[in-house]
Amino acid sequence: MKILIATEKPFAKKALDGIKEILAAADYEVALLEKYTEKEELIAAVRDVDGMIVRSDKVTAEVIEAAEQLKIVVRAGAGFDNVDLKAASARGIVVMNTPGQNSNAVAELAVAMMIYMSRNRFTPGTGFELQGKTVGIHAYGNVGRLVGRKAKALGMNVIAYDPFVTDSALFENDGVEQVGSVEELYAASDFLSLHIPATEQTRKSIGYKLMMSMPKGATLVNTARKEVIDEVGLEAAMTERTDLKYVTDIAPDDVATMTAMFGNRFFATPKKMGAETAEANINAGLAAARQVVGYLRDGITKFQVNK
Ligand code: 3PG
Repeated sequence: MKILIATEKPFAKKALDGIKEILAAADYEVALLEKYTEKEELIAAVRDVDGMIVRSDKVTAEVIEAAEQLKIVVRAGAGFDNVDLKAASARGIVVMNTPGQNSNAVAELAVAMMIYMSRNRFTPGTGFELQGKTVGIHAYGNVGRLVGRKAKALGMNVIAYDPFVTDSALFENDGVEQVGSVEELYAASDFLSLHIPATEQTRKSIGYKLMMSMPKGATLVNTARKEVIDEVGLEAAMTERTDLKYVTDIAPDDVATMTAMFGNRFFATPKKMGAETAEANINAGLAAARQVVGYLRDGITKFQVNK
């Protein structure tokens, strides 16, 4: 069996060593494609592989078509919107993610972004404190829950909305107030931390109306995906309401304009860095390697996302 580790944004060395060790122990051959810039490089690399470990790398229908022997793709991370599930399923290829493995890193960045924005992006002038403010968690999954816990430790009031969590005990046990609608969430949040996946339903779902409903001085914090933002609506809201702020770990398409238009009220990291910690790389990378072996050797399909 041959496994390709394809990471445009490479894993930390310790994570890579650990992945190789797990795959070598199963007697698999390992191929490595890092920091590639052209999709053709990925297409050439997949031709003879049985399995792939990727991060946000785009596993398109074209890539899947070229990978004639491919049996499994593991996305070392949470979001799998980068993998064409339809194309994979059509070929009987199993796709998995590694839920929870990089969540703490992303949650820490979300908190860091709140502090950064509340202190005027570390430029001189009077800022404000997070203590006593309300943070709304939009989607209460692995990352959302961790953001909530950290925010509580900072003395924030935490509210959350997640239509897919049916057991309200989950919120109660965390001491988090569950609100009844997305509108209610935004209207009450001084900070709104986004944790929804990019799907057909969520695409461009956050825009003018929700932003305009937020309290005075509110900040939208995006460590999820840029695709869920309606950029035109967001820009309109931030133009009309000069108190609103937007901080994101996924640069918008219109990043240059937004930087010029909104000054200290807007910040985008130069490259997505939510999961860029050694710990997250080790947790997600090693889990991915174990899941590849688990499937190819023992047929284990836990964490399959294209069932
Ligand atoms: C995820 O979905 O797990 C995060 O967005 C991290 O993505 P990355 O592995 O590309 O940093």
